[in-house]
Amino acid sequence: MKVLLNLRRLAINQLHEPIDFGDVDEKLLPIGVFDSGLGGLTVVKQLLLHLPNESIIYFGDTARLPYGTKSILTVRKFSLQIARFLQEQGVKIIVVACNTASSLALNVIKENTAIPVLGVIGPGVSAALRVSKSKSIGVIGTTATILSGAYKKALQKLDPAVNVNSVACPLFVPLVEEGWERSDVTELIARKYLDPIINTEIDTLILGCTHYPILKDVLHKVVDNIIIIDSSIETARQVRYILQSEKIQRPKRSKPTHKFYVSDRPQRFEEIAERFLGEPLPNVKQISLDDYRK
Ligand code: DGL
Repeated sequence: MKVLLNLRRLAINQLHEPIDFGDVDEKLLPIGVFDSGLGGLTVVKQLLLHLPNESIIYFGDTARLPYGTKSILTVRKFSLQIARFLQEQGVKIIVVACNTASSLALNVIKENTAIPVLGVIGPGVSAALRVSKSKSIGVIGTTATILSGAYKKALQKLDPAVNVNSVACPLFVPLVEEGWERSDVTELIARKYLDPIINTEIDTLILGCTHYPILKDVLHKVVDNIIIIDSSIETARQVRYILQSEKIQRPKRSKPTHKFYVSDRPQRFEEIAERFLGEPLPNVKQISLDDYRK
């Protein structure tokens, strides 16, 4: 029965037709979110704001981060394991909060998953194209994200005339995790990274990494008069839209539950999480993905 239901969902998903979830009450199921670590909590924060009734299961692959320096094969392998884990938890949609995983692995996750899967690139790209007047857009992200060209491809697929200027900013992730988002050092490094795009036609900058919304203030200082696109906000809006159009929003009846899992010991995650989420995060559980390796 479960297999049949999944096959039906897979077929429907691929045809982009409305999803019929049969006799399972999908509305009550949680949203699955994953990231290489804790950066994806910027997406969770927006999900909590935009969809306060929804339950959430979050997985942060803290034992294997960072993804931003890893190869495509590795990121795909890890992402598929996590997608399998989340599906087994019975989520109704998977949100790939990690920009690197969205850039390198979104298609393979979709191909191997029987429920809707949303990455962070599409939402960020649509928002940037909506607001950019000069049609010259900057993208910053991890080395793997920028090397993949995923943002550039997605932007130019929707508007072939758009000019895209991408810069990898690998030091931003450790600076944010260190809590240095307001430090002079971070501003100096941001100036160095963004120097090639500061005096260009660019009027819009996509934050193509989970950690970068924490750096919004410093980025605004470095590149003023630019519209900053925070993919986490756009992603939450898109999730709300999908749940509404598929009619699988959770009704208000009962209190939603929020569960957080990591693959390494939870202490560091719990300590830093508050800065990402804006509230303390106790009871994070460590789990092993060994059963999901193939
Ligand atoms: N979550 C990653 C991203 O958004 C950043 C951290 C990492 O490199 O794993 O690309």
